Amino acid sequence: MSETRPIDFPFFALPDADPADAAATAHPPVVAARGAALDLDRVGRRFPLDGREVEVLSGISLAAAPGETLVVVGASGCGKSTLLRLILGLDRPDTGRILVDGRLVDGPDTDRGIVFQDHRLFPWTRVEDNVAHALVAHSVPRRERLARARAELARVGLSAHARSWPGQLSGGQAQRVALARALVARPRILLLDEPFAALDAITRRRLQDEVAGIIRSEGLTAVMVTHDVDEAIRMGDRIVVMRPHPGRISRILTTGEARGTGPAAETRRRQITRQVLDDLGLR
Ligand SMILES: Nc1ncnc2c1ncn2[C@@H]1O[C@H](COP(=O)(O)OP(=O)(O)O)[C@@H](O)[C@H]1O
Ligand SMILES: [Mg+2]
Repeated sequence: MSETRPIDFPFFALPDADPADAAATAHPPVVAARGAALDLDRVGRRFPLDGREVEVLSGISLAAAPGETLVVVGASGCGKSTLLRLILGLDRPDTGRILVDGRLVDGPDTDRGIVFQDHRLFPWTRVEDNVAHALVAHSVPRRERLARARAELARVGLSAHARSWPGQLSGGQAQRVALARALVARPRILLLDEPFAALDAITRRRLQDEVAGIIRSEGLTAVMVTHDVDEAIRMGDRIVVMRPHPGRISRILTTGEARGTGPAAETRRRQITRQVLDDLGLR
């Protein structure tokens, strides 16, 4: 992982984070990487459409090392969300297999958490209960569920909003809660499906850095989908470019020095951007 990634917005400067949480989040402790290895081996998925089968994903082979962040970009409809649902275990591949640390994925489990573009919080339940709810299926006692939810909310700078209702939050705050909910069960793989797409540019940039900081300090393995090439470069160790009909991998780019500063980094960023836009047919 790159240590040269610029952090333009330090945690304590986040306007919608609680300053009381800053001490806990300003310098995240570096712990041993706990990310899992993720392996996709010739994964394919078909869906019925108008009486015929449409191949949505075909021959997806991809491996993420523990602690690595892969960012997936591709045209709308090329199967990116389907891919994340398969990794999460909400859906099964028709062909191929998905392994987490060598174990076959056959359903959702605590080792994988996900954040979607929309926060998907329950509006009738307080913020802390929304986060705690992620632990219900894992037979954690209620008191411990709430304690862990509050700790997770502190980490994303939202202690002051633990007792709020989702409707009282800004878009960025709601996504922080969704992040806390994804992390509360201590996953080893974090999946992010266009998590910042609905946010304004400033909030998006801050959350990018904050999420990158959490992924790095926890040593999580991450797979993120985005439409934003700059975001892909900022957050990804590698960028996986997909093509549609059927959804398949067209190119994998290593970001490497593109995440540093200086002219060489700038040149590499331009080169990556050109290659991605070429593959997406946008140039
Ligand atoms: N459960 C489903 N049943 C039928 N078709 C689906 C289903 N899920 C996704 N699809 C289709 O698969 C294709 C890829 O969808 P999706 O993975 O959401 O793409 P992306 O996230 O890249 O925009 C789309 O054409 C979509 O309509
Ligand atoms: Mg999608």
